[in-house]
Amino acid sequence: MTLVGVAVGVALAVVAVFIPWLPDAASEQADIVDSVYWVVTIICVVVFAVVAGVSAYAVYKFRAPPGDMDDGSPIHGHTGLEIVWTLIPTILVTGIAVYSGVALAQSEELPPDHRIIEVSSQQFAWTFTYPDIEVEGGRPLSSGELVVPIDQTIRFEITSKDVIHSFWVPEWRMKQDAVQGITTHTTVKPTELGTFPVICTELCGLGHALMRSRARVLSEADFQAWVEEQKRLAREGGAIQGKELFTQQCGSCHTLADAGTTGEVGPNLDEVLQGVDADFIMESIVDPSAEIAPGFQDGVMPGNYGEMFTEPQLQGLVEYLVNATEGGAQ
Ligand code: CUA
Repeated sequence: MTLVGVAVGVALAVVAVFIPWLPDAASEQADIVDSVYWVVTIICVVVFAVVAGVSAYAVYKFRAPPGDMDDGSPIHGHTGLEIVWTLIPTILVTGIAVYSGVALAQSEELPPDHRIIEVSSQQFAWTFTYPDIEVEGGRPLSSGELVVPIDQTIRFEITSKDVIHSFWVPEWRMKQDAVQGITTHTTVKPTELGTFPVICTELCGLGHALMRSRARVLSEADFQAWVEEQKRLAREGGAIQGKELFTQQCGSCHTLADAGTTGEVGPNLDEVLQGVDADFIMESIVDPSAEIAPGFQDGVMPGNYGEMFTEPQLQGLVEYLVNATEGGAQ
């Protein structure tokens, strides 16, 4: 029976390994995590097949015949068997624990030339700050999308401004909670170019499902070009940059036809910005509690955009919104 169970288990494990269940592995850490995942899965499938096979056989083979109301015959156990079924799981579980511990240490290894990116979360948006890159006004570069160079290890320092969120890029595998009051960490070395989703994986309120951004992995040269472009945009402002900023930062919560966004957490801006002036729009961005649209709650929109964006960025955003909603009674 045990041999049959092992054979079935191995067959099932082969099937499991060859079905592509997991997203692409696009980081060094993803390969490490996937190895642990598959080793544990194969062990579990084989153990399950043996236990389930022997149980099913025993239930069928030793069932009571109809009308048999006798007690079972008394037995005293089997010391040898008990030692075996205690020893095997102990060895398996200890082995898995040691293997996972080593894999975890490996994936958190930090080479001296790593880059630090601060991940700030709030209901319901991500902000990525590059502390060693300076833009207009001496403030560090920050962005609503995560842009990183390929093949460089990144140490993410993760914080939350309100409730608990969780930072996750499935293709990178590493996942870390964002908790208010402390800074948590995770390490990723992206090994594939491309665009991947950034997902909040901790139920954090009404807009949780919409709390998404994207991670773009670029070549070193393209990354430097992106940095220069961000510096230029922070310096110049303007409506074009305002549109980009809106799409990155505001679109997940607000519907605006011109930007093609469909968020429903906050008011539909095609409606509420009709006929308002630039001052009202500016106030709504930097002090969202000043006036709340009917049917919406105070405190949902973050109140710190005035600090997060540079003055040219804020002006560009307002200019864009005035144009886009034709509300400008300037
Ligand atoms: Cu933030 Cu879910």
